[in-house]
Amino acid sequence: MRVLITGGAKELGRAFSEAVGARGHRLVITGRDERALDQAGRELAARGIEVETHVADLGDPRATPKLVESLGPIDVLVNNGALGGPVGRTWEVDEDEWWRTFEVNLRGLAAATNAALRTMTSGRIVNIVSNAGVHRWPLLSAYSVSKAAVIKLGENLAIELKPRPIAVLSYDPGMVDVGLMGRGSRATPDDQDEQRVAQWAKSQREQGRFTPVEQSARVLARIVDGEFDHRSGGLVTAAE
Ligand SMILES: NC(=O)c1ccc[n+]([C@@H]2O[C@H](COP(=O)([O-])OP(=O)(O)OC[C@H]3O[C@@H](n4cnc5c(N)ncnc54)[C@H](OP(=O)(O)O)[C@@H]3O)[C@@H](O)[C@H]2O)c1
Repeated sequence: MRVLITGGAKELGRAFSEAVGARGHRLVITGRDERALDQAGRELAARGIEVETHVADLGDPRATPKLVESLGPIDVLVNNGALGGPVGRTWEVDEDEWWRTFEVNLRGLAAATNAALRTMTSGRIVNIVSNAGVHRWPLLSAYSVSKAAVIKLGENLAIELKPRPIAVLSYDPGMVDVGLMGRGSRATPDDQDEQRVAQWAKSQREQGRFTPVEQSARVLARIVDGEFDHRSGGLVTAAE
């Protein structure tokens, strides 16, 4: 199968690329960072994985659709690329930064999905979401609300797609020790909101609530292979 993974060069997206590529699928990976894409492309190819890399900013609603149109039909779109958004009380953070999170996490994802659905004949859309989109994540409301919106988008699309053999799954990869949760805090001692988020993440890790990245990527690869298509519209978690 041909699988497009947005943000597939780095962190959790990179682990997804490795797991999906290891199953013999052809990869197309995107992101903004050309150097990271080149490096990931070389390293994945060295493992025998067939991979194309393309710079495409999800913040530009035309960029990924243009790429998708140029690729021709793909079998699976993994909407992984996302921003963590601003940290702080919702009424105190920069409103433009808050909204920018939706431009990337929701509009960019929707534009990529729409373009893929216009060319796909079968397969699946996999939206990488978060527990923060199911419950809440105070001090990261843009992230939390954008992920909630993506979950709801998936529920709607799954019904709209019923006449076609295309599934839509939301996937919560769990808290993993790479990327957004693994980076730790770059907070300065006087940034109390960042410190609170970092402290919370530390306590979650100490309580054993993190998911090994290999497990997170293994479940994603099973979703890509179609194992969860019968649950189209639903949420799959890394515990499955
Ligand atoms: N890490 C966790 O514990 C965790 C938990 C739950 C859910 N998730 C979800 O897993 C996914 C990956 O997260 P992560 O932790 O690996 O985060 P990350 O380290 O911040 O990586 C984000 C990825 O998205 C790409 N990206 C960001 N903005 C983009 C844009 N405007 N256009 C194109 N690509 C963009 C980045 O690539 P470039 O920099 O090259 O653009 C990078 O590959 C996200 O959807 C996140 O919400 C992560």
